[in-house]
Amino acid sequence: MSFSSEQPKKRIFSGIQPTGNLHIGNYLGAIKNWISLQQDSETIYSIVDLHALTLDSNLETLNESVYEVTAAIIASGIDPQKSIIFNQSSVKEHSELCWVFNCVAKMGWLNRMTQFKEKAGKKRENASVGLYNYPILMAADILLYRATHVPVGDDQKQHLELSRDIAQKFNLDFKKPDFLKAPEPLIQKNFARIMSLKDGLKKMSKSDPSDLSRINLNDTKDQIINKIKKAKTDPLPLPDNETELKKRPEAENLLGIYSSLSEQNLEKTISEFNGKNFSEFKLKLADLIVDKISPISNEINKIQKDKNFIDDVLQKGADKANIIASKKIKEIKKIIGF
Ligand code: AMP
Ligand code: TRP
Repeated sequence: MSFSSEQPKKRIFSGIQPTGNLHIGNYLGAIKNWISLQQDSETIYSIVDLHALTLDSNLETLNESVYEVTAAIIASGIDPQKSIIFNQSSVKEHSELCWVFNCVAKMGWLNRMTQFKEKAGKKRENASVGLYNYPILMAADILLYRATHVPVGDDQKQHLELSRDIAQKFNLDFKKPDFLKAPEPLIQKNFARIMSLKDGLKKMSKSDPSDLSRINLNDTKDQIINKIKKAKTDPLPLPDNETELKKRPEAENLLGIYSSLSEQNLEKTISEFNGKNFSEFKLKLADLIVDKISPISNEINKIQKDKNFIDDVLQKGADKANIIASKKIKEIKKIIGF
Protein backbone atom coordinates (compact mmCIF):
# COMPACT_ATOMS: atom_id res chain seq x y z
CA MET A 1 0.00 0.00 0.00
CA SER A 2 1.49 3.38 -0.93
CA PHE A 3 0.81 6.38 1.25
CA SER A 4 0.14 9.89 0.08
CA SER A 5 -0.38 13.12 1.94
CA GLU A 6 -3.71 13.38 0.11
CA GLN A 7 -6.78 11.91 1.75
CA PRO A 8 -7.50 8.29 0.71
CA LYS A 9 -11.01 6.80 0.88
CA LYS A 10 -10.20 4.56 3.80
CA ARG A 11 -7.38 5.34 6.21
CA ILE A 12 -6.93 3.34 9.37
CA PHE A 13 -5.14 4.66 12.44
CA SER A 14 -4.62 2.93 15.74
CA GLY A 15 -2.19 3.01 18.62
CA ILE A 16 -0.82 0.76 21.27
CA GLN A 17 1.10 1.69 24.38
CA PRO A 18 4.63 0.40 24.90
CA THR A 19 3.91 -0.87 28.37
CA GLY A 20 5.25 -4.38 28.63
CA ASN A 21 4.30 -7.51 26.83
CA LEU A 22 1.15 -7.76 24.80
CA HIS A 23 -1.49 -10.28 25.82
CA ILE A 24 -4.26 -12.16 24.01
CA GLY A 25 -6.71 -9.38 24.97
CA ASN A 26 -4.68 -6.96 22.84
CA TYR A 27 -4.39 -9.57 20.13
CA LEU A 28 -8.05 -10.61 19.93
CA GLY A 29 -9.53 -7.20 20.79
CA ALA A 30 -7.38 -5.07 18.50
CA ILE A 31 -4.39 -6.45 16.60
CA LYS A 32 -6.26 -9.25 14.82
CA ASN A 33 -8.45 -6.57 13.32
CA TRP A 34 -5.42 -4.40 12.43
CA ILE A 35 -3.97 -7.28 10.43
CA SER A 36 -6.97 -7.90 8.22
CA LEU A 37 -7.39 -4.17 7.53
CA GLN A 38 -3.98 -4.11 5.83
CA GLN A 39 -5.45 -5.85 2.80
CA ASP A 40 -7.59 -3.03 1.47
CA SER A 41 -6.75 0.20 3.31
CA GLU A 42 -3.95 2.57 4.17
CA THR A 43 -2.99 1.47 7.65
CA ILE A 44 -1.03 3.53 10.18
CA TYR A 45 -0.12 2.00 13.53
CA SER A 46 1.65 3.94 16.24
CA ILE A 47 3.57 2.82 19.29
CA VAL A 48 2.20 5.55 21.55
CA ASP A 49 5.14 6.24 23.82
CA LEU A 50 3.90 9.73 24.76
CA HIS A 51 0.79 8.09 26.19
CA ALA A 52 2.95 5.67 28.15
CA LEU A 53 4.53 8.64 30.00
CA THR A 54 1.23 9.21 31.79
CA LEU A 55 1.95 6.50 34.36
CA ASP A 56 5.16 6.49 36.47
CA SER A 57 5.19 2.71 36.43
CA ASN A 58 5.99 2.71 32.71
CA LEU A 59 9.03 4.98 32.82
CA GLU A 60 11.83 2.59 33.69
CA THR A 61 10.99 0.06 30.99
CA LEU A 62 9.84 2.48 28.29
CA ASN A 63 12.75 2.03 25.88
CA GLU A 64 12.77 -1.78 26.13
CA SER A 65 8.98 -1.91 25.85
CA VAL A 66 9.06 -0.05 22.53
CA TYR A 67 11.21 -2.87 21.11
CA GLU A 68 8.99 -5.53 22.69
CA VAL A 69 5.73 -4.11 21.40
CA THR A 70 7.07 -3.35 17.92
CA ALA A 71 8.42 -6.91 17.68
CA ALA A 72 5.09 -8.28 18.92
CA ILE A 73 2.92 -6.46 16.41
CA ILE A 74 5.20 -7.42 13.52
CA ALA A 75 5.30 -11.03 14.76
CA SER A 76 1.49 -11.03 14.95
CA GLY A 77 1.20 -10.08 11.29
CA ILE A 78 1.51 -6.30 10.90
CA ASP A 79 3.67 -6.02 7.80
CA PRO A 80 6.04 -3.01 7.65
CA GLN A 81 5.84 -3.16 3.86
CA LYS A 82 2.08 -2.64 3.98
CA SER A 83 1.60 -0.47 7.08
CA ILE A 84 3.26 2.58 8.56
CA ILE A 85 4.61 1.57 11.98
CA PHE A 86 6.10 4.42 13.98
CA ASN A 87 6.80 5.83 17.39
CA GLN A 88 4.45 8.62 18.42
CA SER A 89 7.26 10.73 19.95
CA SER A 90 9.17 10.79 16.68
CA VAL A 91 6.48 12.91 15.02
CA LYS A 92 6.36 16.19 16.93
CA GLU A 93 3.01 17.26 15.43
CA HIS A 94 1.16 14.94 17.86
CA SER A 95 2.23 17.08 20.82
CA GLU A 96 1.64 20.29 18.90
CA LEU A 97 -1.93 19.40 17.95
CA CYS A 98 -2.58 18.08 21.45
CA TRP A 99 -2.02 21.60 22.82
CA VAL A 100 -4.48 23.09 20.35
CA PHE A 101 -7.05 20.48 21.35
CA ASN A 102 -6.40 21.18 25.04
CA CYS A 103 -7.81 24.58 24.28
CA VAL A 104 -10.77 23.20 22.32
CA ALA A 105 -11.96 20.44 24.69
CA LYS A 106 -13.96 21.19 27.82
CA MET A 107 -13.07 20.09 31.34
CA GLY A 108 -16.57 18.66 31.67
CA TRP A 109 -15.94 16.31 28.75
CA LEU A 110 -12.78 14.95 30.34
CA ASN A 111 -14.44 14.60 33.73
CA ARG A 112 -16.70 11.95 32.25
CA MET A 113 -13.88 9.67 31.08
CA THR A 114 -14.16 6.36 32.89
CA GLN A 115 -10.63 5.18 32.03
CA PHE A 116 -9.14 8.12 33.94
CA LYS A 117 -11.30 7.28 36.94
CA GLU A 118 -10.21 3.64 36.80
CA LYS A 119 -6.51 4.39 36.34
CA ALA A 120 -6.32 7.24 38.85
CA GLY A 121 -8.38 5.28 41.38
CA LYS A 122 -8.49 6.77 44.84
CA LYS A 123 -5.28 8.72 44.29
CA ARG A 124 -6.85 11.20 41.89
CA GLU A 125 -4.93 14.19 43.23
CA ASN A 126 -1.68 12.34 42.65
CA ALA A 127 -2.44 11.31 39.08
CA SER A 128 -0.45 13.13 36.41
CA VAL A 129 -2.11 15.87 34.40
CA GLY A 130 -1.04 13.80 31.39
CA LEU A 131 -3.23 10.91 32.52
CA TYR A 132 -6.19 13.30 32.64
CA ASN A 133 -5.32 14.69 29.21
CA TYR A 134 -4.67 11.28 27.71
CA PRO A 135 -7.81 11.21 25.50
CA ILE A 136 -6.95 14.62 24.03
CA LEU A 137 -3.59 13.36 22.79
CA MET A 138 -5.46 10.40 21.37
CA ALA A 139 -7.76 12.75 19.44
CA ALA A 140 -4.66 14.51 18.08
CA ASP A 141 -3.23 11.16 16.92
CA ILE A 142 -6.36 10.32 15.00
CA LEU A 143 -7.30 13.69 13.54
CA LEU A 144 -3.75 14.52 12.45
CA TYR A 145 -3.98 11.72 9.89
CA ARG A 146 -7.63 12.27 9.06
CA ALA A 147 -8.22 8.62 9.87
CA THR A 148 -11.57 7.38 8.63
CA HIS A 149 -11.64 4.28 10.84
CA VAL A 150 -10.07 3.46 14.17
CA PRO A 151 -9.90 -0.19 15.22
CA VAL A 152 -9.78 -0.51 19.00
CA GLY A 153 -11.02 -2.70 21.81
CA ASP A 154 -14.32 -1.91 23.48
CA ASP A 155 -12.60 0.00 26.30
CA GLN A 156 -11.60 2.86 23.97
CA LYS A 157 -15.08 3.67 22.69
CA GLN A 158 -15.58 6.64 24.99
CA HIS A 159 -12.25 8.13 23.93
CA LEU A 160 -13.28 7.93 20.30
CA GLU A 161 -16.52 9.74 21.07
CA LEU A 162 -14.45 12.50 22.61
CA SER A 163 -12.38 12.73 19.40
CA ARG A 164 -15.63 13.23 17.53
CA ASP A 165 -16.67 16.06 19.90
CA ILE A 166 -13.27 17.72 19.58
CA ALA A 167 -13.39 17.57 15.78
CA GLN A 168 -16.84 19.13 15.71
CA LYS A 169 -15.98 21.87 18.18
CA PHE A 170 -12.75 22.75 16.35
CA ASN A 171 -14.71 23.11 13.10
CA LEU A 172 -17.26 25.28 14.87
CA ASP A 173 -14.74 27.43 16.79
CA PHE A 174 -12.73 28.16 13.68
CA LYS A 175 -15.70 28.30 11.30
CA LYS A 176 -14.44 25.50 9.07
CA PRO A 177 -17.31 23.08 8.66
CA ASP A 178 -16.17 19.57 7.75
CA PHE A 179 -12.46 20.38 8.06
CA LEU A 180 -11.73 17.82 10.77
CA LYS A 181 -13.54 14.58 10.09
CA ALA A 182 -14.68 12.45 12.99
CA PRO A 183 -13.51 8.85 12.62
CA GLU A 184 -15.67 5.74 12.79
CA PRO A 185 -14.72 3.35 15.56
CA LEU A 186 -14.16 -0.24 14.44
CA ILE A 187 -15.00 -2.38 17.41
CA GLN A 188 -15.43 -6.09 16.97
CA LYS A 189 -18.99 -7.21 17.55
CA ASN A 190 -17.98 -10.31 19.46
CA PHE A 191 -15.29 -10.83 22.07
CA ALA A 192 -14.26 -7.17 22.00
CA ARG A 193 -13.33 -7.33 25.68
CA ILE A 194 -11.27 -10.25 26.95
CA MET A 195 -11.41 -10.58 30.71
CA SER A 196 -8.81 -11.53 33.34
CA LEU A 197 -8.23 -15.27 33.86
CA LYS A 198 -8.51 -14.61 37.59
CA ASP A 199 -11.68 -12.53 37.57
CA GLY A 200 -14.28 -12.67 34.81
CA LEU A 201 -15.51 -9.19 35.69
CA LYS A 202 -12.15 -7.46 35.27
CA LYS A 203 -10.51 -6.61 31.95
CA MET A 204 -7.39 -8.58 31.04
CA SER A 205 -4.65 -5.99 31.41
CA LYS A 206 -0.90 -5.57 31.14
CA SER A 207 -0.95 -3.67 34.40
CA ASP A 208 -2.57 -6.43 36.49
CA PRO A 209 0.05 -7.35 39.12
CA SER A 210 -0.73 -11.06 38.66
CA ASP A 211 0.86 -12.58 35.57
CA LEU A 212 -1.58 -15.50 35.98
CA SER A 213 -4.39 -13.13 34.99
CA ARG A 214 -3.31 -13.00 31.33
CA ILE A 215 -1.76 -14.99 28.48
CA ASN A 216 1.13 -12.96 27.11
CA LEU A 217 1.98 -13.29 23.44
CA ASN A 218 5.49 -14.38 24.44
CA ASP A 219 4.47 -16.99 27.02
CA THR A 220 5.99 -20.44 26.60
CA LYS A 221 3.88 -23.53 26.02
CA ASP A 222 4.25 -24.57 29.67
CA GLN A 223 3.27 -21.12 30.93
CA ILE A 224 0.12 -21.17 28.77
CA ILE A 225 -0.89 -24.64 29.97
CA ASN A 226 -0.28 -23.68 33.58
CA LYS A 227 -2.22 -20.41 33.35
CA ILE A 228 -5.25 -22.09 31.78
CA LYS A 229 -5.11 -24.84 34.39
CA LYS A 230 -5.18 -22.20 37.15
CA ALA A 231 -7.78 -19.96 35.49
CA LYS A 232 -10.76 -19.23 37.73
CA THR A 233 -13.91 -21.25 37.02
CA ASP A 234 -17.13 -22.14 38.80
CA PRO A 235 -18.27 -25.58 40.00
CA LEU A 236 -20.92 -26.31 37.34
CA PRO A 237 -20.49 -28.16 34.03
CA LEU A 238 -20.60 -25.93 30.93
CA PRO A 239 -24.10 -24.72 29.97
CA ASP A 240 -26.05 -25.49 26.81
CA ASN A 241 -27.25 -21.97 26.01
CA GLU A 242 -26.07 -18.36 25.87
CA THR A 243 -28.53 -17.05 28.48
CA GLU A 244 -27.09 -19.38 31.12
CA LEU A 245 -23.54 -18.60 30.00
CA LYS A 246 -24.09 -14.85 30.45
CA LYS A 247 -24.65 -15.47 34.18
CA ARG A 248 -21.21 -17.08 34.52
CA PRO A 249 -18.49 -14.52 33.67
CA GLU A 250 -15.46 -16.86 33.85
CA ALA A 251 -17.09 -19.52 31.69
CA GLU A 252 -18.25 -16.86 29.24
CA ASN A 253 -14.75 -15.42 28.96
CA LEU A 254 -13.00 -18.77 28.43
CA LEU A 255 -15.54 -19.93 25.85
CA GLY A 256 -15.22 -16.51 24.20
CA ILE A 257 -11.44 -16.86 23.93
CA TYR A 258 -11.91 -20.32 22.43
CA SER A 259 -14.45 -19.03 19.89
CA SER A 260 -12.39 -16.02 18.90
CA LEU A 261 -9.15 -17.97 18.46
CA SER A 262 -10.83 -20.76 16.53
CA GLU A 263 -12.88 -18.25 14.49
CA GLN A 264 -16.14 -20.01 15.19
CA ASN A 265 -19.26 -18.47 16.66
CA LEU A 266 -20.15 -18.80 20.32
CA GLU A 267 -23.17 -20.95 19.58
CA LYS A 268 -20.97 -23.59 17.98
CA THR A 269 -18.50 -23.50 20.89
CA ILE A 270 -21.35 -23.92 23.37
CA SER A 271 -22.68 -26.92 21.51
CA GLU A 272 -19.18 -28.43 21.34
CA PHE A 273 -18.69 -28.28 25.11
CA ASN A 274 -22.16 -28.30 26.67
CA GLY A 275 -22.39 -30.58 29.70
CA LYS A 276 -18.59 -31.04 29.82
CA ASN A 277 -16.51 -30.25 32.87
CA PHE A 278 -14.06 -27.36 32.92
CA SER A 279 -11.11 -29.76 33.24
CA GLU A 280 -11.87 -31.31 29.86
CA PHE A 281 -12.59 -27.97 28.18
CA LYS A 282 -9.43 -26.41 29.62
CA LEU A 283 -7.23 -29.06 27.99
CA LYS A 284 -8.74 -28.22 24.60
CA LEU A 285 -8.46 -24.49 25.23
CA ALA A 286 -4.81 -24.71 26.29
CA ASP A 287 -4.02 -26.75 23.16
CA LEU A 288 -5.70 -24.18 20.94
CA ILE A 289 -3.92 -21.23 22.56
CA VAL A 290 -0.54 -22.98 22.29
CA ASP A 291 -1.28 -23.73 18.67
CA LYS A 292 -2.12 -20.11 17.80
CA ILE A 293 0.23 -18.23 20.09
CA SER A 294 3.46 -20.28 20.01
CA PRO A 295 4.36 -19.35 16.41
CA ILE A 296 3.88 -15.67 17.32
CA SER A 297 5.95 -16.12 20.46
CA ASN A 298 8.85 -17.70 18.51
CA GLU A 299 8.72 -14.89 15.98
CA ILE A 300 8.73 -12.21 18.72
CA ASN A 301 11.90 -13.70 20.19
CA LYS A 302 13.56 -13.72 16.80
CA ILE A 303 12.61 -10.14 15.86
CA GLN A 304 13.37 -8.71 19.28
CA LYS A 305 16.99 -9.78 19.00
CA ASP A 306 17.40 -7.68 15.86
CA LYS A 307 17.21 -4.15 17.22
CA ASN A 308 18.67 -2.67 14.03
CA PHE A 309 15.77 -4.10 12.08
CA ILE A 310 13.25 -2.62 14.53
CA ASP A 311 15.02 0.77 14.51
CA ASP A 312 14.91 0.74 10.73
CA VAL A 313 11.18 -0.09 10.61
CA LEU A 314 10.37 2.69 13.09
CA GLN A 315 12.54 5.24 11.29
CA LYS A 316 11.02 4.51 7.88
CA GLY A 317 7.55 4.62 9.45
CA ALA A 318 8.29 7.97 11.14
CA ASP A 319 9.50 9.45 7.85
CA LYS A 320 6.26 8.50 6.12
CA ALA A 321 4.04 9.59 9.04
CA ASN A 322 5.88 12.92 9.12
CA ILE A 323 4.93 13.77 5.55
CA ILE A 324 1.21 13.41 6.35
CA ALA A 325 1.37 15.03 9.78
CA SER A 326 3.42 18.08 8.81
CA LYS A 327 1.10 18.92 5.94
CA LYS A 328 -1.92 18.69 8.21
CA ILE A 329 -0.45 20.85 10.97
CA LYS A 330 0.40 23.57 8.46
CA GLU A 331 -3.25 23.69 7.40
CA ILE A 332 -4.38 23.77 11.01
CA LYS A 333 -2.02 26.61 11.92
CA LYS A 334 -3.23 28.60 8.96
CA ILE A 335 -6.85 28.11 10.02
CA ILE A 336 -6.08 29.19 13.56
CA GLY A 337 -4.17 32.23 12.33
CA PHE A 338 -0.73 31.40 13.75
P1 AMP B 1 -3.33 -0.88 25.44
O1 AMP B 1 -2.61 -2.10 25.82
O2 AMP B 1 -4.18 -0.34 26.54
O3 AMP B 1 -2.47 0.14 24.75
O4 AMP B 1 -4.39 -1.36 24.34
C1 AMP B 1 -4.07 -1.65 23.00
C2 AMP B 1 -5.30 -2.14 22.27
O5 AMP B 1 -5.73 -3.39 22.83
C3 AMP B 1 -6.51 -1.19 22.37
O6 AMP B 1 -7.21 -1.17 21.17
C4 AMP B 1 -7.36 -1.82 23.46
O7 AMP B 1 -8.71 -1.51 23.31
C5 AMP B 1 -7.10 -3.31 23.24
N1 AMP B 1 -7.25 -4.07 24.50
C6 AMP B 1 -6.52 -3.93 25.63
N2 AMP B 1 -6.94 -4.80 26.58
C7 AMP B 1 -7.95 -5.51 26.02
C8 AMP B 1 -8.80 -6.56 26.49
N3 AMP B 1 -8.67 -7.07 27.72
N4 AMP B 1 -9.73 -7.05 25.64
C9 AMP B 1 -9.88 -6.55 24.39
N5 AMP B 1 -9.10 -5.56 23.88
C10 AMP B 1 -8.16 -5.05 24.68
N1 TRP C 1 -5.51 4.79 24.18
C1 TRP C 1 -5.31 3.63 23.37
C2 TRP C 1 -5.27 2.40 24.29
O1 TRP C 1 -4.91 2.46 25.41
C3 TRP C 1 -4.04 3.71 22.57
C4 TRP C 1 -4.11 4.83 21.58
C5 TRP C 1 -3.42 6.00 21.62
C6 TRP C 1 -4.92 4.88 20.42
N2 TRP C 1 -3.72 6.78 20.55
C7 TRP C 1 -4.63 6.12 19.80
C8 TRP C 1 -5.82 3.99 19.86
C9 TRP C 1 -5.29 6.51 18.63
C10 TRP C 1 -6.47 4.38 18.68
C11 TRP C 1 -6.20 5.62 18.08
O2 TRP C 1 -5.57 1.36 23.85
